[in-house]
Amino acid sequence: MKNFIKHDFEQRTSLSSESKWSLLLSTLRSISEALKLSVIFHILRQIIHFGSWRIFPIALIRKLRPPLASSDENKQSLLGIIDEKEIAEELRQNSVSVIGLLPPEFVARLRQITDRLPYEEYQLVHQINNEVRLLTQDPGIMKVLRAYLKCEPVLLEASLFVSKSEKSLPQDGQNSFHFDYAGWESLNVFVYLTDVTENSSYHEVAQGSHRDVRFRDIVRGSLSIEEGKQRFGRAIQPITGPAGTLFFENTEAFHRRNRGNERRVMLNLLFASHQSLLSHGRASPEQLEIRNQAFKSLGVL
Ligand SMILES: [Fe+2]
Repeated sequence: MKNFIKHDFEQRTSLSSESKWSLLLSTLRSISEALKLSVIFHILRQIIHFGSWRIFPIALIRKLRPPLASSDENKQSLLGIIDEKEIAEELRQNSVSVIGLLPPEFVARLRQITDRLPYEEYQLVHQINNEVRLLTQDPGIMKVLRAYLKCEPVLLEASLFVSKSEKSLPQDGQNSFHFDYAGWESLNVFVYLTDVTENSSYHEVAQGSHRDVRFRDIVRGSLSIEEGKQRFGRAIQPITGPAGTLFFENTEAFHRRNRGNERRVMLNLLFASHQSLLSHGRASPEQLEIRNQAFKSLGVL
């Protein structure tokens, strides 16, 4: 009993110190944005991140955090039967791999909630939704992540983006070609939860562009649609598909969101090769409260 209490106390203590660190980082991010320091900080961080020296920390992480031999690997995956090595190779070459459709009954369960959610970005949804949690732990997804990252992956984000028709809205940063990054290496798992056609806010990616991030790109941050078309040409792949379409993408590839004319819901799971101190605090308490209120109002929390 004593041991249990001690263990419980230690666990709660470590959780609370982690959430304190997250809160501190989240506050520092808000302050630096208000003081316009975030742009300079962002550029410096990207110079460090994309420098040729990155091969050393990547190799070190692979050594320190080798992929775990999971007992789940033989369990059935929502992706069906996949060849993770082939998918990992496709990702290395093309930055993206479209896997196909998740089982319809699984998508229907998820859509019972997501079809009713108000326009918003909901973060860390795996904490409050069982289907999203299952996806974050899916044996097939884990196999692809391990084959690609060559280390044990860490989940950093599980966000639901519920966006409205953007046709009459001014263009925002997500509509231009840009790249993101997390940890030293990272992969996104995207799932459309509405049917996405060429009229929708579909995701578009420049194949192979994660290997072509230049110094000028780091300073500028993004490319206009026209510049992106000139530079990447036929490598640009618009991704459309019915609800349940799942694809993997290297976070560092140039991508953009089309300004579509209808409501679109997309799930974004972000996995990285490790969790750095700076990757905490991505979701603020206010954002988590908005998430909780929305799910409560639907009677699912
Ligand atoms: Fe992005």
